[in-house]
Amino acid sequence: MRKKPFQKSSLLAFRSALYSALFIGIVVGIAAHFLLDTTLPKSFLLGGGMFLLSGVIVYFVTYKQQFHRLKILDQINKNILKKRFRDYEELQTKNHDELDYLIKQSVRASKTVEREIQRLNRIENYRKEFIGDISHELKTPIFAIQGFIETLLNGAIDDEEVNRKFLEKAMRNVNRLIYLTRDLMEISKLETGELKSDIQNINLKETIMEIVNNLQYKAEKADVLLKTDIPIDHIVRADPNQIKQVLINLIDNAIKYNVEGGKVTVGVKPWAEDESRLLVYVKDTGIGISQQHIERVTERFFRVDKSRSREDGEGTGLGLAIVKHIIQAHNEELFIESTPNVSSSFSFTLSRADFPASKADRTS
Ligand SMILES: Nc1ncnc2c1ncn2[C@@H]1O[C@H](COP(=O)(O)OP(=O)(O)OP(=O)(O)O)[C@@H](O)[C@H]1O
Ligand SMILES: [Mg+2]
Repeated sequence: MRKKPFQKSSLLAFRSALYSALFIGIVVGIAAHFLLDTTLPKSFLLGGGMFLLSGVIVYFVTYKQQFHRLKILDQINKNILKKRFRDYEELQTKNHDELDYLIKQSVRASKTVEREIQRLNRIENYRKEFIGDISHELKTPIFAIQGFIETLLNGAIDDEEVNRKFLEKAMRNVNRLIYLTRDLMEISKLETGELKSDIQNINLKETIMEIVNNLQYKAEKADVLLKTDIPIDHIVRADPNQIKQVLINLIDNAIKYNVEGGKVTVGVKPWAEDESRLLVYVKDTGIGISQQHIERVTERFFRVDKSRSREDGEGTGLGLAIVKHIIQAHNEELFIESTPNVSSSFSFTLSRADFPASKADRTS
């Protein structure tokens, strides 16, 4: 059986020593015999002596030069095979030869493999989590619809008092499924980067007014006063449809999570941190969000009070996750501030198109 490499002796050094020693021994033997006229046995002896001496010298020189570094290379490759990645920062390469180059390349390869494995693990975890979330979210409305239809089939259909109510409840859950699929398609496109923002110059005030007017009926129905505060008017760089969606989601939440007789203000003001950008805010006087939940509200499917949004049959918990992705795709910032039982404010920045050398250039 062949000996395992990288134990005590070096086969490579042995071969180098053997070949060079053979060459040196023969040359010395022949030279001694023909040039120095030494007798044949003496020439043999000399050649043999030189063979041994040069063999030992070449073996140790080659061994010292290569063996340790070959062992390091072997270790790096073994680690890659076992998917064990170490930090090779402390590895000093000071010979600047081909072996050092190979070691550096192997360390680089190891880092690339490590990053790639981490990326694949992340995608895999994301996929598992996403599928788990979806099945969990689909279960509730599907079972509810099943329950209502079963009750109807078991006789409730003939009961004038409840049949309509049950059908309406089933319909609400069907609507919920429709919203859910629509939002899921949207968010998966946003998360995979399939949906690109079509950045254009848009009139911010007009865009806000259009959405506010469309949502007035909803505010009135909830007994919430919906008003605007837009003292400045600017052209901004944004995808009109996506910004409308952000506004719809934020204003819809501000109405939905408000109190009777509450107020929602949609406004625009300069952003103190960067004068090339504006801050659009949606402020309400609603139920608010506690500090521990603020960080989580933009996670997909996260709802502070799950029963509340299920009751009204619409909430999917994807609204703010979509908002976050759209704002990120615009290279803008999203801020959330809230005091429970007092108010919440969701604001985001937008870049002015009419600002000289504005950040708008970055997003175009
Ligand atoms: N203005 C707000 N005031 C208080 N709580 C809020 C406000 N906006 C969002 N939330 C909380 O954050 C959660 C997540 O909001 P998000 O808009 O993502 O989902 P949703 O409103 O439940 O459902 P969807 O918007 O998909 O219909 C909400 O369920 C709610 O608990
Ligand atoms: Mg919402």
